[in-house]
Amino acid sequence: MTTVTPSNATSAAATTDPLRLVDVDHVRFYVGNAKQAAHYYANTFGFQIEQFSDLTTGSRDVASYLLTQGNIRFVLQTGLTPDSPIGEEVRKYGDGVKDVAFTVADAEKAFERAVKNGAKVAFEPRTESDDDGSVTSAAIESYGRATHTFVSRTGKYDLETVRNGGRFSPLFKPADARRINEYNKKNPCGLQWVDHCVGNVEEGKMNHWVEWYENVLEFKLFKHFDDNDISTEYSALMSKVMASGFGVIKMPINEPAEGKKKSQIQEYLEWHNMTPGVQHLALRTNDELSSVAELRRRDVDFLSLPDTYYEVVWDRVNTTLRENGHDPVKEDHDKIRKLGVLVDADDQGYLLQLFTKPLQDRPTLFFEIICRRGSQSFGKGNFKALFEALELEQERRGNL
Ligand SMILES: [Fe+2]
Repeated sequence: MTTVTPSNATSAAATTDPLRLVDVDHVRFYVGNAKQAAHYYANTFGFQIEQFSDLTTGSRDVASYLLTQGNIRFVLQTGLTPDSPIGEEVRKYGDGVKDVAFTVADAEKAFERAVKNGAKVAFEPRTESDDDGSVTSAAIESYGRATHTFVSRTGKYDLETVRNGGRFSPLFKPADARRINEYNKKNPCGLQWVDHCVGNVEEGKMNHWVEWYENVLEFKLFKHFDDNDISTEYSALMSKVMASGFGVIKMPINEPAEGKKKSQIQEYLEWHNMTPGVQHLALRTNDELSSVAELRRRDVDFLSLPDTYYEVVWDRVNTTLRENGHDPVKEDHDKIRKLGVLVDADDQGYLLQLFTKPLQDRPTLFFEIICRRGSQSFGKGNFKALFEALELEQERRGNL
């Protein structure tokens, strides 16, 4: 299988297909206080606070902060007025992801095609421009409160320039020098790009949204040996993975399933105003152990697993790797255990992953820190151990 990473995705995108995604342009969050949230993501996850837009730059309704790390761009937004639609969403859902935006060659054409394919309009095309170039965006509604924005860029606002520190759009100004940005450069967390973005939808709606991604965004069901419906005594969820053409992003869709205990997906929905939304973003690193060690030093709150996990994991993972002709896990086993990192293997190799606890007070959005060594799957072998850990957390929250 050919994997297209964001660095070589641009050339793959140089075709006439309007829905050919070039990259995840950015992920936009709605939060209660963007100024403070920026410090949280900078201090705990190592993001650079790069640019902003607020009252001082002439934005009267919304304050926005652009945070970057590797090829990851987050835009944190807060409403400034009592009737702000952002404030209304924060009231209903708490802090969380509103939008996963895709860079495309022509946002208007991508939008028109998606609408022709059946998408509902979130907002019509609009262009911000100045002497340096332009940024055109248009958005469609996805599951629940989530949207997808198509973004096309010209001049000094093109993606390559933005990746190298150029201005994000005519509305943004560079942030002042900050001590935390210097600290992050010296102590990198090593997060590189968004590997996948998982949505939680209501029971019985997974296949509806799988078809939506097929029809509207022309994604494909990601073919992999474990992409059949997952439903075990422990997992209590079903999941299917949708992949964009050329693999810029994978978007698994979860729905709750009947299990022994309340599904974690059901818990999410109940704390998210019974509305589908983004459950987690998986952020990719090339060095899981350094990344997790640095994130732990910064007090990131990770899920912890029972010690028994490491009594059986090596046998399971290395047997799978041996049977498929791959080398065993090369990272130090003792360090993996001490850092509490999870390991899984499939026919293509292995992966290392670790999940944070919820990033806000409501048990909704969390992050996954993932490193792939050949494996293209999602850690199915860890489900049983993870669900036991998650159930313990749900019990602590009184939600089981
Ligand atoms: Fe994941």
